[in-house]
Amino acid sequence: MSGVTFDGVTKQFGDTVAVDHLSLDIADGEFMVFLGPSGCGKSTALRMIAGLEEITSGILSIGERVVNHVPPRDRDIAMVFQSYALYPHMTVAKNIESPLVANKAARVSSEERTARVREAAAILDLEKYLDRKPGELSGGQRQRVALARAIVRRPEVFLMDEPLSNLDAKLRTQTRLELVGLHRRLGTTFVYVTHDQVEAMTMADRIAIISDGRLQQVGAPQAVYEKPRNLFVAGFIGSPPMNTVAGQVAVTEGGTWVRTPAGTVAVPASPELSDGREVVLGVRPEHLSIGADTPTALRGQVENVELMGHERHVLCTVGESRMVVRQSNHDATPSIGDQVALIAESTGLHLFDPVSTERIETGPTESGLPA
Ligand SMILES: Nc1ncnc2c1ncn2[C@@H]1O[C@H](COP(=O)(O)OP(=O)(O)O)[C@@H](O)[C@H]1O
Ligand SMILES: [Mg+2]
Repeated sequence: MSGVTFDGVTKQFGDTVAVDHLSLDIADGEFMVFLGPSGCGKSTALRMIAGLEEITSGILSIGERVVNHVPPRDRDIAMVFQSYALYPHMTVAKNIESPLVANKAARVSSEERTARVREAAAILDLEKYLDRKPGELSGGQRQRVALARAIVRRPEVFLMDEPLSNLDAKLRTQTRLELVGLHRRLGTTFVYVTHDQVEAMTMADRIAIISDGRLQQVGAPQAVYEKPRNLFVAGFIGSPPMNTVAGQVAVTEGGTWVRTPAGTVAVPASPELSDGREVVLGVRPEHLSIGADTPTALRGQVENVELMGHERHVLCTVGESRMVVRQSNHDATPSIGDQVALIAESTGLHLFDPVSTERIETGPTESGLPA
């Protein structure tokens, strides 16, 4: 088995820099997710691992081997795409077997091929369908055939490019679980591309968040959620996204504050927070509540209430901004037009520099460890 290492890898298409000096270590056996909006360079990064795109500069390694100039067929990877073209005239068994037949160099005997097809079919629960043609399968079953066709090769690394985006919501959730289970059983390195932060959060060991060809942050899903490194990550991870409002630090004898047009919030004292510094205050919807007005509350007006069944999202106009409060169904229901005080949990506050957009660390974390 192998990990994958990007060392300052850049890919340009003419004037477009699709991937910009990407440096990233993907550990052997890790489930790594590349997450970012459409056009940010995720597929290009993945296709460079596969050898389907040439590298403009930098070094890409699979395991110990530099693969910059290694042709795709010699890379020991398998790739699953969003549109998984199966051979319509072949049975499921023949489709799964096809990579072993196509790669003459691998010299897999026919007994071995049959055994591997059975094994792959068993892993993906396809044994009942081996004699069917793709046209006789559901979308989810066809996607599983595409996965079986990838695992039959026993690659060092699996590459997947938005493999679930053609499935309906229910099947997507189910296949997500299957993929996580598959990864656990195989123990192979997975590199998985998606623009869907829920997929990334639920499946990844670590997420690499990319914007505009540049790596923004790499980390375990919970770590990235709790400590987004910049405003891009803060806005991309989490749904509804983190609320933000611009403000200014005020250091008084009574403490350190961020004054915003909608109210003042107490923040931890920190050498980073000098009097007068401009900041962006961030707070996630679940760390805001509607409560009694105090000197340190944000004041807003309820604009809309979305009933989600298990919870409510209360959309408020707060100064020039909008903020969403995530509420339990047990809380009193606000009415549209109500003037409300929004109370932010002190442990749920994030501060960012408005110019660099980087997170401002303000001292010990909740666990008491330095940031
Ligand atoms: N073959 C290509 N020729 C020219 N530009 C390309 C090519 N492939 C991708 N790009 C450009 O590179 C950028 C990244 O694309 P891509 O990696 O497909 O993004 P993503 O998968 O994150 O949506 C985009 O601006 C895209 O238009
Ligand atoms: Mg893509």
